[in-house]
Amino acid sequence: MGRLLSHTTLLGLLGLVSAGCPFADPSALRARADGDTDPVLGAMVDDSNGFFTDDVGGQIQEQDSLRAGERGPTLLEDYIFRQKITHFDHERVPERAVHARGAGAHGTFTSYGDWSNLTAASFLGTAGKETPVFVRFSTVAGSRGSADTARDVHGFATRFYTDEGNFDIVGNNIPVFFIQDAIRFPDLIHSVKPSPDSEIPQAATAHDSAWDFFSQQPSTLHTLFWAMAGFGIPRSFRHMDGFGVHTFRLVKDDGTSKLVKWHWKTKQGKASLYWEEAQILAGKNADAHRQDLFEAIESGNGPEWELAVQVVDEDQALAFGFDLFDPTKILPEEYAPLQKLGVMKLHTNPTNYFAETEQIMFQPGHIVRGVDFTEDPLLQGRIFSYLDTQINRHGGPNFEQLPINRPVIPIHNNNRDGAGQNLIHKNIHAYSPNSLNDGYPQQASQSSGRGFFSAPIRSTSGRLVRGLSSTFDDHWSQPRLFYNSLTPVEQQFLINAIRFETSHLTSTTVKQNVLTQINKISNDIAVRVATALGLEAPAPDDTYYHDNTTIGISITNVTLPSVATLKVGILASTSKANGTNALDQAKTLKTRLANENLTSTVVAETLVDGVDKTYSAADATDFDAVIVVSGADSAGLFALSAANLSPLYPPLRPLQIATTAYLFGKPVAYFGAAAPSDPLVAGGLDPKTEGVYASADVETLATGLVGGLKTFKFTGRYPVDKTT
Ligand code: HEM
Repeated sequence: MGRLLSHTTLLGLLGLVSAGCPFADPSALRARADGDTDPVLGAMVDDSNGFFTDDVGGQIQEQDSLRAGERGPTLLEDYIFRQKITHFDHERVPERAVHARGAGAHGTFTSYGDWSNLTAASFLGTAGKETPVFVRFSTVAGSRGSADTARDVHGFATRFYTDEGNFDIVGNNIPVFFIQDAIRFPDLIHSVKPSPDSEIPQAATAHDSAWDFFSQQPSTLHTLFWAMAGFGIPRSFRHMDGFGVHTFRLVKDDGTSKLVKWHWKTKQGKASLYWEEAQILAGKNADAHRQDLFEAIESGNGPEWELAVQVVDEDQALAFGFDLFDPTKILPEEYAPLQKLGVMKLHTNPTNYFAETEQIMFQPGHIVRGVDFTEDPLLQGRIFSYLDTQINRHGGPNFEQLPINRPVIPIHNNNRDGAGQNLIHKNIHAYSPNSLNDGYPQQASQSSGRGFFSAPIRSTSGRLVRGLSSTFDDHWSQPRLFYNSLTPVEQQFLINAIRFETSHLTSTTVKQNVLTQINKISNDIAVRVATALGLEAPAPDDTYYHDNTTIGISITNVTLPSVATLKVGILASTSKANGTNALDQAKTLKTRLANENLTSTVVAETLVDGVDKTYSAADATDFDAVIVVSGADSAGLFALSAANLSPLYPPLRPLQIATTAYLFGKPVAYFGAAAPSDPLVAGGLDPKTEGVYASADVETLATGLVGGLKTFKFTGRYPVDKTT
């Protein structure tokens, strides 16, 4: 009968049924209608009132199973028990084959202008036009329960719910990729995932197989260098840029096209962790990044990124000394400046992680009119892979009908049936061409409707080749360009990361192969790594050596535009020894720092009024800056003595927080006197270095600290190899 009803009548009936049934939400069953711009609202289930029901609507009590007598066995007829347990037994779906660990949020993209001079894409067609988005950030190698701060490339996948269909930029926080041909992707992933016998290490590349692959496949070197530098360990998802990685095409209504690179530029500024800090954080708070994103959005400080493109003419793919279709190459900004097209703000957290973040299925193949692919062989393979793997994850082809995946416009096609079919198609003539449904749905083309069309210009060689173009051959010049563009301390971090990773290798052959490859980039790096490994470095191999640099690479030589939502730990005490009330001092500071939109946490021995966290639960990795109040110092909390041991926190924890924050390059301040006290200095805090502030005046202290937080990391505190 339902098939004979019009869609509106069907929904009307559902509405009528639900009028007598306060806990069913008929909108959860509806298909999309015109003008419906919220991706998930229609699927919300509101449990704020009503009785429990079974899965088909009957009211039930579901806390006790049905048994044969009070102390007897459970009955097979207990459909309530079976339904609940069966559903639970099937709660998990396969995690993503890669990028399993992630966090996401809803937001809005706003176009800065009418970009029809570049593209026919409707979401970029009008200044001020708003498009809903969902973004998922991720790491690549770790499984779904792995730690957020593992060193890794980070996924940055954005779904635009445009009024002409869904468009996904499935990118990363690093502008290049490890391989040039998608057929090698399983090899890459098998090499970085845990060992098949021991299933270790989790979310880490510091092992033989990863570096064996890296050193045998030099196309990996450029991405590897970015990952070994700060880009592999961002301060948070909010403090990283995003990249589409491949070169894409933007196509205009007249069919002409340009080659483009997508960029997301963080408005929070780029910032990274220190490797030691990232490792500690992985244990102390495995959820650090997802928590940071969630809390920033909850507090109304949703992060923002500007969408920018680098645009070049179709005939310039080989004009810059490398191939623009090679995804291991950046397009230096000196050749093509960034052109900002719009801004995205994330403002709403998911209501249900599984339904939204876990079930969103991004695809590089989700493109809209005005956007097109290029011949990049990695991109070409990705267009196939995501759809394929998502059919596996969902168990069928209907995952695009899930609320988070549905476009905000109606779907009309002849795809039918399959597991979990959610739509009720009225058209019984599901074939095309047809006359019995009056020829509908009609074919849309460039001239009829707003049909997608491929950019007509494509280079084809006309013969079949199983292999990569020789224009993809240079794997060493751009890693060197990247390295040359870092500050000396950032170069040191990169070298330290390679030292850390390669020191875990057991195979001497792999170590030697790594040195051979690095030596093609720089003999200096090879020598410095070899020294740490106790090996002899090879003689310089200088074919690809050069002194070129490019802009926009360094993380630490740019200050943050804003300190909003950064975290400050105020180390206080519940003791009022020697007359200074540490909690009063902490309160004064907290009030002042709130004016800067900083998130302050008062730390003390116990959770009395005015204390946010105990010393037992706190750690230097919780904070971007740390302030010691003199009252806590006078109470003896920082003394290097047995008298300072307390059962309320691990030995010397207050001192450890202050001095570790200092060692991790964070701003550290002392409130209540003109200089930090002796115990802190004895603990390693050098009051004469940049980024250490001391004052009895709250205003002076706050001003210094805010400046320090904008610098974020005081890199002068890190030693650099003497050989440089
Ligand atoms: C430029 C290179 C690449 C980038 C930037 C990239 C980026 C991403 C991102 C961001 C995700 C996570 C999407 C999400 O949050 O749900 C992802 C997932 C995935 N990627 Fe890639 N990837 C690249 C290369 C490849 C290649 C070459 C393949 C295979 C041929 C591949 C296969 C996959 C698969 C199977 C998933 C899991 C998808 C899912 O289950 O929904 N990726 N990738």
